[in-house]
Amino acid sequence: MVVGIGRAHAKAILLGEHTVVHGTPAIAFPLPALPVRALARPAEPGTGSQVPADGHFRFTVGGTDTALSGPRVAAEEALRRWGITDTTVEVVVECGIPLARGLGSSAACAGAAVRAVADLHGLVVEPGELYDLVQCGEQVAHGRASGIDASAVLANGPIRFHQGRAEPMPIGLDAALVIADTGVPGSTQHAVAGVRRRLAEDPVRAGSLLERASGLIEAAGDELSAGAAESLGKTMLDFQELLAELGVSTPHIDALVTAALGAGAHGAKLTGAGLGGCVLALTEPASAPGVSAALRRAGAVRTWTVPTRAMHAGA
Ligand code: PMV
Repeated sequence: MVVGIGRAHAKAILLGEHTVVHGTPAIAFPLPALPVRALARPAEPGTGSQVPADGHFRFTVGGTDTALSGPRVAAEEALRRWGITDTTVEVVVECGIPLARGLGSSAACAGAAVRAVADLHGLVVEPGELYDLVQCGEQVAHGRASGIDASAVLANGPIRFHQGRAEPMPIGLDAALVIADTGVPGSTQHAVAGVRRRLAEDPVRAGSLLERASGLIEAAGDELSAGAAESLGKTMLDFQELLAELGVSTPHIDALVTAALGAGAHGAKLTGAGLGGCVLALTEPASAPGVSAALRRAGAVRTWTVPTRAMHAGA
C-alpha cells in the first residue's frame, strides 16, 4: 500500500514566550531528539479518530471525522486547499514529544501530519504554506497562536521570530541547555488567556513590561551570538521574573529554577506556556550532568541536555 511519511520535531523557546503573542520578538530552537513521525494512507471504511495513548493517535481527513484536534484541522485544510476531495486519508501520528509540556507537541504533530498527507499525494509543501497550515491547527489548539511554535518545529536551527517571520539566529555559544519536565501538563490556551487578562487590567504597566521584555530578548540575541553565557543566564533569570509577574510560573517551576542555580547553572526559566510544562537551564557543558541531577532531585520527572553547538535539526 502507498504510504506518505512526514516528520517534525519539538522546540524550546529560549526567551519571549507569551510576550511574543503581544508583538515582541522571541528566540527558539529545534529539539530533533524529540521527533514526531506521521504516516498517511487511504483509509479503510469505518476508521475514525482515536485519542492519544503513549503519544500515538489516529484520525481521518477528507471523510466524516470531525474531531477537533489541531493536527486533524491542519491536514483537512491542506486537502481542501489542494483540491483533493475524492479520498479519505487515515493519518497515524507517532509523537515522541511529551504532550502539554511547552515543547510544541501540537504544532509538531500538525506539521508532520500535513507533510505525510502531501507525501501520500506526491506533493512537496513549500515552507510558507506549511507554516500557514500548521497555524490553522494551532488556532484550534491554542486560541490565538503567535506562530513561534509553527516556525520552530519545522526549523533546522535556532530562530529569531518576530510578527510572523522567522530568521536564522546565529549562535556563538559553547554551553549546554538542560530541559527539565515538571511532569505537570500546562494548558497553553489557559495560560495565554490569563496573560491577556493581566495585561488588559493595567495597560500602562503592560506597555512597560512588554518594553522590558523586548529589551531582554534583544540582549539575549546579542549574548547568544557573542557567546556570553554568564550574561545570557542573567537575562534568562530576568525574563523568568517577568513571566512570574505575568502569572505563568508556579512554585514547582520556581523550585526547579532555584535547584538549577544551586548546581551552578548560569540561569534558568520556564519555557513555553508555563503553569507546569518545562524549565530550561543554561550551564557550562561540564556542569550539565550536575544541573540535570539537581533538577531531578528537585522533582523533575525527566531531563534532556542539548549542547548549544548541536542546536540544529540535522545535528
Ligand atoms: O507551551 P507551548 O509549546 O504551547 O508554547 C506556546 C508559546 C506561547 O508564547 C505561550 C504562545 C504562542 O502562541 O506564542
